[in-house]
Amino acid sequence: MFASAPFVVGKTPSPADPHIPAEEALCPVVSHEWVNSEYKHLIVQASPKALAVRPGQFFNLLCPSPDAGELWLRRPQSVYRIDRAKGRIEFLYKCVGRGTRGLATLGVGDALNMVGPLGVGFSLDPRHKSVVVLGRGVGLATLAPISQLAQENGVAVTAILSARSAEFVMADDLFGAVGEVVSVLDSDGSSAVENVDAILKRLIAAGRADAFYTCGSNRLMQLMKRLGREHGVPGQVAMEQIMACGLGPCYVCVKTFEVAGEKVLRRVCIEGPVFDLQEAVGW
Ligand SMILES: Cc1cc2nc3c(=O)[nH]c(=O)nc-3n(C[C@H](O)[C@H](O)[C@H](O)COP(=O)(O)OP(=O)(O)OC[C@H]3O[C@@H](n4cnc5c(N)ncnc54)[C@H](O)[C@@H]3O)c2cc1C
Ligand code: FES
Repeated sequence: MFASAPFVVGKTPSPADPHIPAEEALCPVVSHEWVNSEYKHLIVQASPKALAVRPGQFFNLLCPSPDAGELWLRRPQSVYRIDRAKGRIEFLYKCVGRGTRGLATLGVGDALNMVGPLGVGFSLDPRHKSVVVLGRGVGLATLAPISQLAQENGVAVTAILSARSAEFVMADDLFGAVGEVVSVLDSDGSSAVENVDAILKRLIAAGRADAFYTCGSNRLMQLMKRLGREHGVPGQVAMEQIMACGLGPCYVCVKTFEVAGEKVLRRVCIEGPVFDLQEAVGW
């Protein structure tokens, strides 16, 4: 369905398939900068269908090869920021292997082949007035747009950003623009589970935690899951999982969940990547 005729953003008319919520599109790169020694910020011009992406959903990117060899399979990246006024989609990604190293070679004006938007994103309960997001590493990129959505809906956000050191606190400007930011670091010991536990309990006691959102750390997810269970705070987690097709048929991305005491298998690409926090088992 996606392989033969990608939609070229800014050139070809929108494909006549409105019932399919995702498409393959060639998106011109508008900006592509290093944020620090490991992360790059990529901005592309996006199609109307891509701009309908919801926080927590992802695109499967066809990364150029970084060397003479072939690069198999697309690489999933969740949307970091959606700028509907300018028609742009942003990604914040860590260079970890051949796919992301190849992605990093794209220059302004090059076309990025994206399939999406894919998967199930975060949801915001209209009754909630104040939510807490807790993330680490690349998980912060995935969580950033939920705080954007919360702000648009008049919901207060406290963002707890966990990182190795101050240099790797990602997206603090974006979170800071929509709510309060608490950075916790390995370098000064403040990222220790006991400290984050205390911060979360203070937010619960202050009535500032109607819902929890998390991504990027199994340890922090387990903490939020336990506190959510103990204090009746609902939550959602965006799971990261190695994927192949990203569309549902290959079952490479299956993970175990626990629903009403039963173990169930779910595909992260199509039944997630966002799941109920209490049903996630972790990784
Ligand atoms: C739904 C989803 C959203 C994601 N969003 C982001 C994002 O916003 N920013 C970002 O930096 N990364 C994100 N990732 C992770 C990203 O897909 C991987 O880092 C990327 O595919 C690695 O490709 P590579 O070829 O560079 O590395 P590889 O050579 O394939 O792998 C290098 C290292 O990364 C690990 N890795 C590979 N794929 C994944 C994966 N899917 N999840 C976790 N670890 C992986 C491998 O185990 C290995 O240790 C997301 C993953 C998923 C499933
Ligand atoms: S990646 Fe193929 S089914 Fe999920």
